[in-house]
Amino acid sequence: MALFKSAVQRFRVPHQRTFGLSVADGQRNFSDHRYSNNNSENDFADRERSRSVTSYYYQSAIDQAANKPSVRLTPAAILYSGKSQDKSHILRSAQYLHKELPVRIAHRIAGFRGLPFIVGCNPTILQVHELYIRAFHILSEFPQVSDQYVEEDFSETLRNLLDDHKDVVTLLAEGFAECRKHIKDENLIKGFLDKTLTSRLGIRMLAEHHLGLHIEKPNYVGIVNVGFSPRKLIEKKADFVSSVCQTKYGSTPLIKLNGHVGAQFPYIAPPLDYILTELLKNACRATVESHVDNSQNLPSVNVTIAVNDEDFVIRISDRGHGIPSSVVNRVWDYNFTTSGTISDDRLDGGLFGQVMNSSQNSAMPGKMHGYGFGLPTSLAYSQYLGGSLTLETMPGIGTDVYLRLAHIDGKKESFRIYDNKCH
Ligand SMILES: Nc1ncnc2c1ncn2[C@@H]1O[C@H](COP(=O)(O)OP(=O)(O)O)[C@@H](O)[C@H]1O
Ligand SMILES: [Mg+2]
Repeated sequence: MALFKSAVQRFRVPHQRTFGLSVADGQRNFSDHRYSNNNSENDFADRERSRSVTSYYYQSAIDQAANKPSVRLTPAAILYSGKSQDKSHILRSAQYLHKELPVRIAHRIAGFRGLPFIVGCNPTILQVHELYIRAFHILSEFPQVSDQYVEEDFSETLRNLLDDHKDVVTLLAEGFAECRKHIKDENLIKGFLDKTLTSRLGIRMLAEHHLGLHIEKPNYVGIVNVGFSPRKLIEKKADFVSSVCQTKYGSTPLIKLNGHVGAQFPYIAPPLDYILTELLKNACRATVESHVDNSQNLPSVNVTIAVNDEDFVIRISDRGHGIPSSVVNRVWDYNFTTSGTISDDRLDGGLFGQVMNSSQNSAMPGKMHGYGFGLPTSLAYSQYLGGSLTLETMPGIGTDVYLRLAHIDGKKESFRIYDNKCH
């Protein structure tokens, strides 16, 4: 009981801070438009706090929403849903999201509530749980999106929510790392994280797509890039990972590209962005750490692109000495990492590398490794996108990772931006 009380106490604190800060700083606030005429800041903070705590106990609105089915959309449906001169397609899109997002978020809140008690009480996990409850209230209480002006408010709200939730993957990675020792049932955690992370991806894709509809950009319909070039994205990610690797280790392998480098087709870059970054980081790390005696002569990481009518494959090959058979089955587990097991002074990248690595605040993309989330999250994302992620490793030699993804306008049924409860 005492534990429960302190959990609720902790649950309240960040909320207090969040609202206190956002009002006092005059920053964007989801409910400015609803509360701007209201009394004092304190009243506002109190109301929000009690709202949050009340919702923790009385979940009927959330339960009701969680019982509703989610309405799936295929990227092709999004892509070809049609643009209209009067911008009514933007209004329709907002109305769809206004109905759909609270339902999806309610499903996720139900997931948090189903976590083992000791895990659900972890302050970092509780913080994410609270973010979802807050997002639910913000969206479910938002007025009907009846015209362009309300739509603009709604889009602003979405933008703020996307920003508020940007560190959720890192927070979950940290939270679960903290309470690993209490977890007996690995599958329960895997089920929770797979669903939470992929549902989050779906929600973000829908929200970003909606925001993208406001921007006229050649080759783009919302977030769909109709002339997507895998080569360009890989080159961009390779540059990024090389600089992180260089900073951390003081050296980095060359990343070479081959195969169908000229291919272009419609695709949505954001999820691929994450997956490619994680796979390239793993390949570069393995290469550097297995060649500490020869760091000026690192074997390259080779990326091959193969595109056909139904799908496309990206293979990332490294000569980073592979994965020992004793651990190969565990690399897909959340929080499994060999980070920190090698203590070689030559691998800490000097002072700057240590600072980069130890910074608690550094967002996930800037970290080379350490949470053990890269592979399991990438696997969940690729399956969610109607694809697969497999790995072939030759211990002592190197590793090949194959990412296979369906085309979004393919002949075969491709992926749906669905909510997990419904598939
Ligand atoms: N290309 C690779 N070569 C060798 N080991 C790898 C490779 N990719 C992944 N691994 C192993 O799998 C583990 C889990 O990888 P990942 O999920 O990305 O987490 P992290 O990078 O944070 O450790 C790594 O710690 C590493 O031991
Ligand atoms: Mg990794």
